[in-house]
Amino acid sequence: MEIIKSIEKLRKVLWEHRKAGKSIGFVPTMGYLHEGHLNLVRQARKDNDIVVVSIFVNPTQFGEGEDFESYPRDLVRDASLCEKEGVDYIFAPDTHEMYPDGAPLVYVDVLKLSDHLCGRFRPGHFRGVLTVVAKLFNIVMPDRAYFGKKDIQQLRIIMQMVKDLNFPIDIVPVETTREPDGLAMSSRNTYLSPEERTVAPRIYEALKEGFQMIKDGERDATKVVEHVLEKLGAIPGARPQYVQIVSWDDMQPVKELKDGIYVLATAVFLGPARLIDNIRFKIEGGDVDVY
Ligand code: PAJ
Repeated sequence: MEIIKSIEKLRKVLWEHRKAGKSIGFVPTMGYLHEGHLNLVRQARKDNDIVVVSIFVNPTQFGEGEDFESYPRDLVRDASLCEKEGVDYIFAPDTHEMYPDGAPLVYVDVLKLSDHLCGRFRPGHFRGVLTVVAKLFNIVMPDRAYFGKKDIQQLRIIMQMVKDLNFPIDIVPVETTREPDGLAMSSRNTYLSPEERTVAPRIYEALKEGFQMIKDGERDATKVVEHVLEKLGAIPGARPQYVQIVSWDDMQPVKELKDGIYVLATAVFLGPARLIDNIRFKIEGGDVDVY
């Protein structure tokens, strides 16, 4: 495995592989890798000849007062985890390599799909994500790129970018990896105190209760949202930022659940950490299934 910090060098080595007819799988990350990231890497390893993981804490997707400075970083540990998974290249540019002129003058932006959920509370966040992912796609030029369902709005928006801007890349969604107690794995879980960590699994439990209501026949989205909010409000130290049910197609909130694909999603502040989680599901006649 090789760690490459320069765009030019990475382009050169990947060009050789492409010329030799090798397929390239790409896993973009901000590092501080956990099993969730590694499951993306394992899927990429299965599907491709060459696997590239990027590790870059992208300043343009953090808002003012967010955790860009304190975001956990450990390249040595990340590199050893990647090596064990058979990664071929880590791309770990510094900020100057990615943004030589400071803040860029040209961005990739999204309409509508970022109006709700996290997009509503993190203005500019998805613009920063899309811009860096577009840059990374242009640098790596992968055949396939892997994204976690844990960040469901990010996944939805990136799928739209690839479609609308004609990137010749297959986006492969990967299931959310959870701790044995159900908490979605996240680099930000390291911010939790032992007490907060003990109650954190109740976020997913609340979502599962909401999902069960829908399975049991509830079709009024407001009632489900209210129930989940009540459950989240009862977690000591938790401050829910939002609970919403949106349709997968346009990421707009719905009132009445009909046949279709939806996402029940939440963001919750627990101490210093902002944790997100979701359940994506499909309603077809009387059947409701995780999707
Ligand atoms: P990061 O939060 O490091 O996540 C990198 C990838 O890992 C994302 O696709 C994310 O959805 C996935 N991931 C994180 N936790 C997961 C879990 N518990 N189960 C499954 N997948 C999980 O997302 C970003 O970085 C950045 O926004 C990035 C796309 C790299 C752009 O800067």
